[in-house]
Amino acid sequence: MINFQELSKKYDTPLYVYDFNEITKNYNTLKDAFKARKSMLCYAVKANSNLSVLKHLATLGSGCDCVSIGEVKRALIAGVEKYKIIFSGVGKKDIEIQEALQKDILMLNLESEEEMYRVEEIAKQLNMIARISIRVNPNIDPKTHPYISTGLSENKFGVDIESAKKMYLYANKSAFLNPIGIHFHIGSQITQTAPFKEASIVISNLLRSLKAANIDIKFFDVGGGIGIKYKDEKTISLYEYAQNIFEALGNQDVTVLCEPGRYLVGNCGYLVTKVLYEKKNEKKRFVIVDAAMNDLLRPSLYGAYHNFKLLSDNQNKEKSLADIVGPICESGDFLAKDIYMKQTKHDDIIVFEGAGAYGFTMSSNYNSRPRAAEIALIDGKDKIIRRREKLEDLSSLEIDYI
Ligand SMILES: Cc1ncc(COP(=O)(O)O)c(C=O)c1O
Repeated sequence: MINFQELSKKYDTPLYVYDFNEITKNYNTLKDAFKARKSMLCYAVKANSNLSVLKHLATLGSGCDCVSIGEVKRALIAGVEKYKIIFSGVGKKDIEIQEALQKDILMLNLESEEEMYRVEEIAKQLNMIARISIRVNPNIDPKTHPYISTGLSENKFGVDIESAKKMYLYANKSAFLNPIGIHFHIGSQITQTAPFKEASIVISNLLRSLKAANIDIKFFDVGGGIGIKYKDEKTISLYEYAQNIFEALGNQDVTVLCEPGRYLVGNCGYLVTKVLYEKKNEKKRFVIVDAAMNDLLRPSLYGAYHNFKLLSDNQNKEKSLADIVGPICESGDFLAKDIYMKQTKHDDIIVFEGAGAYGFTMSSNYNSRPRAAEIALIDGKDKIIRRREKLEDLSSLEIDYI
C-alpha cells in the first residue's frame, strides 16, 4: 500500500507518483508474450518522458519510439542504445532529420512521400545511408476515442498501401535510403483484439509482396495502442495479441517491434492532490482541489475517466453527486465529472489512478501554474525524479521583457 498521505506531506501536492516495480512487471509480461519470436519493445516516450522512467526501461532492455528529436535525445541521455531508437512523426524538421541521422539511430519512420525525399536529400548531403521504415495506414477502425484513432484514412498519419509500395520501390533503389522496417500504429487505448489482428494481416501481406520484390525488410513494427483498465474496461489478452501477429507473419523472418506507451506506465502512476474547498449551488456540488487540467489534461481533452480514492477521516459514509475541479479559469477544468463521493474537508487527499501515461507529459503552465513534482517508488522507497517547478523556472526564459 502506498502511503499517499506521507508522500503529500513530504513533497506537497499536486504530486505525480510512479511505481517503478509495476513498470518492470508490465515490461516483463509484454516481453514474455512475444518470446516465441525475435522481438523488441520500443517504449513510446510520449507517454511519460521522465529521464528516470526512460533509464529504468533502458536497464530492462527497452528501446524507444520517439516523435521529436527532443525525445530521441532524452532516450540517448537516459542510456537507451542508439540501435533501439525509432523516430516517427508526420512533421520532422530538416534539423531533426539531420541530427537523427548523425546520431545513427535504428531508423526514421517516414510518414509521407515528401518526407522521404527530404530524408534522402539530407542523407545525401551528409554522405550517409538513412535506415528507414514507412508508416502504413491500413485504414482500420481501432474502435477507440476519435482523438486517439490514427489508422483511418481520415487521420493524418502514415501513407496508404499503394503509396507505401511506391515509396519502398523508390527507397530500395536510392543510394541514400535503406528500407529496413515496416510500421503501423492504428490508435491508442484499444481494448479489442480484432483491429490489431486485422491490421497485422493487412500489413504482413504488404510485407510479403515487398519481400517478393527483394526488399529486405527486417523489422515488423506493430506500433503501440494496447489499452489499459481505467474504469471497467476489458483489456486484451497479450498472449492472443502476440499470437495473432505471429500468425499473420507466418514464416516471414523479421524482428517484431512493439511500441507500448500507456500499457507500460499508465497504471503505474498516480496524481495526488489536496482538497481546497467545497462549494454548492442549486444545481451542482464542486470539490475544488489543487490539481487542475494543466496537471492532468485527459479528462478535459477526451472526457477521460480516472478512478480516484478519497483519503479522508470523515466518518460520514453518505455520498452525493459532485464534480472534482481545479483552480483554472476554464469551465472545462475538471478531473472528474458527475461522480458520487463523500463530503470532503480542507487538506483531504484525493489520488487519481491511471495517471502514469499522458499525464505529466501533457501538463502545461497554463494560468502560470508551476508543474507538479514527480516521485519514483522503488521497492517501496520514494525518490524525487523531478522537482516541483518554481515561478522562477517559468519566467526564466523571458529574458528581454520590457
Ligand atoms: C507511432 C506511435 N507508437 C506508439 C504509440 C503509443 O501508444 P500507446 O500509448 O497507446 O501504447 C503512439 C501513440 O500515440 C504512436 O503514435
